[in-house]
Formats: sequence, structure tokens, C-alpha cells
Amino acid sequence: MRTYLVTGGAGFIGSNYIHYMFRKYGNEIRIINVDLLTYAGNLENLKCLEGNPGYTFVKADICDKEAISRIFAENNIDRVVHFAAESHVDRSIREPEVFVRTNVLGTAVMLNCAKEAWELPEGGFKPGKKFLHVSTDEVYGSLPDDDSAFFYEDTPYDPHSPYSASKAGADMLVKSYMDTYRFPANITNCSNNYGPYQFPEKLIPLIINNCLQGRKLPVYGDGKNVRDWLYVEDHAKAIDMVQEQGELFQTYNIGGHNEKQNIEIIHIIIETLQEMLPDDDPRKAHVTTDLITYVEDRKGHDRRYAIAPDKIKAVGWQPETMFKEGIRKTIEWFFRNEEWMKNVTSGDYQKYYDDMYGK
Ligand code: NAD
Ligand code: DAU
Repeated sequence: MRTYLVTGGAGFIGSNYIHYMFRKYGNEIRIINVDLLTYAGNLENLKCLEGNPGYTFVKADICDKEAISRIFAENNIDRVVHFAAESHVDRSIREPEVFVRTNVLGTAVMLNCAKEAWELPEGGFKPGKKFLHVSTDEVYGSLPDDDSAFFYEDTPYDPHSPYSASKAGADMLVKSYMDTYRFPANITNCSNNYGPYQFPEKLIPLIINNCLQGRKLPVYGDGKNVRDWLYVEDHAKAIDMVQEQGELFQTYNIGGHNEKQNIEIIHIIIETLQEMLPDDDPRKAHVTTDLITYVEDRKGHDRRYAIAPDKIKAVGWQPETMFKEGIRKTIEWFFRNEEWMKNVTSGDYQKYYDDMYGK
């Protein structure tokens, strides 16, 4: 039985990945989820796994070397999937240091503990061990509006925000471990994800939530910045595929060829909500384009991201959820999980929101 150490599994992508892995492999795998439960970590995302003998949660900081090496010492870890990070660009502009600590130092601790646990006295590593570092397309910087340019695996790094700089630093550390020690790892650089359990500080869940609450829809700058959206389950599948079928020591870009301007996304959400809300739902009347409000641009706002996913497609992966279907599934999930949204917006996030956009 393979044992996974997943970091950041209580966050958005990590929890979707854990659900996907148990759906795919059932009791053939064991998952140890290590998460500090910051404002972005939510054990409610994994409630249905309580009592599953294959699943263990450990509350720990990835920067805490003692705690992490203890987990390696007490368990025969076969796979590490490293999601834990500070992930929100706007927060990184306000508070860069925590991003450096978690994303760079935390990755260094994870790498070093895995290396110590997996290395053999005669050199090399125990067979079959693999570390996957989950990273972002933001490390490549920004593309021009011209839609013929894409990010490839060999595009030079050019990060602009403290978030993307800290992720680039983490990626470089992983590369250095592969080059120096031949440490068995992969890096994946993925585009923007959306789907269930996404924290409503990010564009799509924020817009869905604000529409339903009748709150303004804040659009940064001219609203024409482009992101390349991928349904989160397709990302989870890609990670598993890279680890099991990809080539070690390689980087894989993950993206769905689904570029859209932010303002287009907002219009699609409004239209989809209009289609999905029943006529007698009082919220239907206020879900209109009148809510759209242009606000001050994000500092250093990258213009366009677009992934060329050719290399991972050659491994057999392809995005399965088209945006129209994915956004309906996401909105349906938010309809069914209003309590989840109430719970996550009632605490720290509400303070951050009021500070960022005013009440
Ligand atoms: P998230 O913010 O929803 O979740 C991050 C998780 O990490 C939370 O559960 C949090 O509690 C945990 N965490 C934070 N600091 C920690 C620490 N010091 N020790 C242990 N746990 C800690 O993030 P997400 O959107 O799910 O992103 C997951 C990963 O995927 C990140 O590495 C991010 O850079 C990368 N990524 C995200 C996207 C996206 O669109 N969201 C796209 C590409 C790559
Ligand atoms: O590209 C991958 C990255 O995607 C991940 O590495 C990050 O962890 C993830 O947060 C995401 O970063 P972005 O900055 O692209 O995502 P965000 O949802 O914050 O913003 C998407 C776009 O929408 C961006 O151009 C900024 C804009 N925006 C965002 C918010 C929150 C607005 O116009 N208004 C808003 O209120």
C-alpha cells in the first residue's frame, strides 16, 4: 500500500486532490494530510473522510523541521505531494514576509526531511520514492495581449509579485535538489484553478458569493487581464498522472487552453446564475451587471497568463471539464454549501475583506 504525505490538504486544491485520490484508489492508499490550518485551511472540506482508516490529519507547520522529520520517521512515506503555501497574490502585496517563510523556507524543510528519510547509506535514494512540488504559471511572469504567446516549460522565470517570487524561489530549491542530489522529484506549474472549496478571496468564488449577497463585483483595472482557467479536478488528475506516468526530474505545465478576460468571467457568472436561480428566488433580481464596479488596479498586475500544456498531454492527460460545465458545477456546489460559505466568511476573511474593499 502506498503512503502519501500531502501538505496543505485542508486548502482548496489539496482537499480536492485528496477526495480525487480516495475516489480513484479507495483503500489501496493511505494519505497523511499535514496542514497548519491557516485562514485558508478548513477541515470541513474533508469532513466525509472522518473515520476513514486510510486518512490521517496532522496539524503541523511545514517550517517546523522537528515535526516534519517525525512524520517521516514514524511512517514509510512513498509519495510527497506538496501543496502547502500562502497562495493569494493580493495578500502577498500587503504582507510579503509570511510568503517567503511558508513558500521558500517551508519547501526547504519539506525537501530536506524527505531527502534525509529517503537517502541510502551507499548513495542514491530508496527506490520508488517521489516528491511532487505543486507550483504556478505565475513564475513565468506576464504575456502580452497578443494571444499567440504561451508559457512553455523552458520559458525563463520572471515573477512579479511577492507570491510568485516566493513560488519561483521554492521551484529553484526543488531544481537544486534534483541537480545536486539527483533527488527524485517533479515540479508542476499550473494555471488558475476554480471549483468546490475555493476560498472566496479568489476571483470566481468571490464573484459568485457577492452576486448572491447583492454586493458590488470589484474589477481590477480595465478588467481585461487574462487568466487560463482549469477545473480543479482536472488539476488533481494531472498531478497523479505526472507522479505515476511522468518522467522524474521533469517539469510539467498544466493548463486547459481556456483563456478568458476577467470581465468575461464575471459576465458568464452573472448569466449562469440568472439561468440557474429559480424565478421565485429573491436573489435573482439583484444578480445583474449593475453590480460590476471598476476599482483600483492590483499593483504589478500581470496582464495575461496562458499555458501550453503539450508536454503533459504527451503523458496522456487532457482537461476534461469545459468551462461552461465547470462553472455550473461550481455554482451548484456553492448553492448546496451555503453553510460552508457562511462559516468561511464569518471570521478572519471578513476582516481582510472589509480592509481590502471597504464594507
Ligand atoms: P490554499 O490557500 O487554498 O491552501 C493552502 C493550504 O496550505 C491551506 O490549507 C493552509 O492551511 C496550508 N498552509 C499554509 N501555510 C502552511 C504551513 N506553514 N504549514 C502547513 N500548512 C500550511 O491554496 P490553493 O489554492 O489550494 O493552492 C495550493 C497550491 O497550489 C499552492 O502551492 C499554490 O501555489 C498552487 N497553485 C494554486 C493555483 C490556484 O489557482 N489556486 C494554481 C496553481 C498552483
Ligand atoms: O495562475 C495561477 C495562480 O492563480 C495561482 O498560483 C494563485 O495561487 C491563485 O490565487 C491565482 O492567482 P490570480 O492572482 O490569477 O487569482 P485571483 O483569483 O486573485 O485573480 C484572478 C484575476 O482576477 C486577476 O487578474 C485579478 C482579478 N481580480 C481578482 C480579485 C480577487 C479582480 O479583478 N477582482 C478581485 O476582486
